[in-house]
Amino acid sequence: MEDIILVGFGGHGKSVADCIEREKLFRIAGYTDNKEQSCGYPYLGTDQELFNYFEKGIKNAAVCVGYLGKGSIRKKIFEKLKGIGFTLPVIKDPSAVVSSSARIGEGTFIGKGAVVNAGAQVGRMVIINSMALVEHECVLGDFSHIAVAAVLCGEVSVGRAAFVGANATVIQGMKIKPHQIVPAGAVVR
Ligand SMILES: CC(C)(COP(=O)(O)OP(=O)(O)OC[C@H]1O[C@@H](n2cnc3c(N)ncnc32)[C@H](O)[C@@H]1OP(=O)(O)O)[C@@H](O)C(=O)NCCC(=O)NCCS
Repeated sequence: MEDIILVGFGGHGKSVADCIEREKLFRIAGYTDNKEQSCGYPYLGTDQELFNYFEKGIKNAAVCVGYLGKGSIRKKIFEKLKGIGFTLPVIKDPSAVVSSSARIGEGTFIGKGAVVNAGAQVGRMVIINSMALVEHECVLGDFSHIAVAAVLCGEVSVGRAAFVGANATVIQGMKIKPHQIVPAGAVVR
């Protein structure tokens, strides 16, 4: 089993680590962060150390910093990791259902009970959080976040780095603009 390094460890990190443990495809070597957390995994220092760990043979990384519609920190970390040479595998909880005709980009996270249906095209570094539903032929831009239990009906497009809040519903065919925030519980129609 190959090693993976977790980058940044907040609340989202706990979800990502749990999915990696359940998936059993990678062994978590530890995490980098600005400071040590009490999460049970070895603390590997700040992001300055990432290059050294890559040189020592850890080639996989998972970005564990969440995204609530503000800032571009996930993009910066992604670019840094790619610059070093890391691979960012798709992390998918075993309970998620992903159609074989869906395309999923590098570094995307698909949480517990999420559904990604036929023909969906999901970009890089997207978060499809627990119980979110991405229906057939939706197109999700890089760095977007579909929060817990949000529903995207068929053929919805979500722009780059947009955020669809918890339990929001976007009806079929609607377009969410890049960086747009859909509030929790909203109905976009
Ligand atoms: C929309 C959102 C980003 C606004 O946050 P904010 O900029 O801090 O705004 P505030 O909390 O100051 O609220 C501003 C106004 O919007 C209203 N508002 C906030 N969230 C709302 C929501 N989800 N639905 C309807 N109205 C909302 C507030 O009542 C307030 O109204 P007022 O000016 O009449 O008092 C935030 O409330 C939200 O929904 N975040 C998403 C959380 C989420 O989905 N988390 C999931 C993590 S997986």
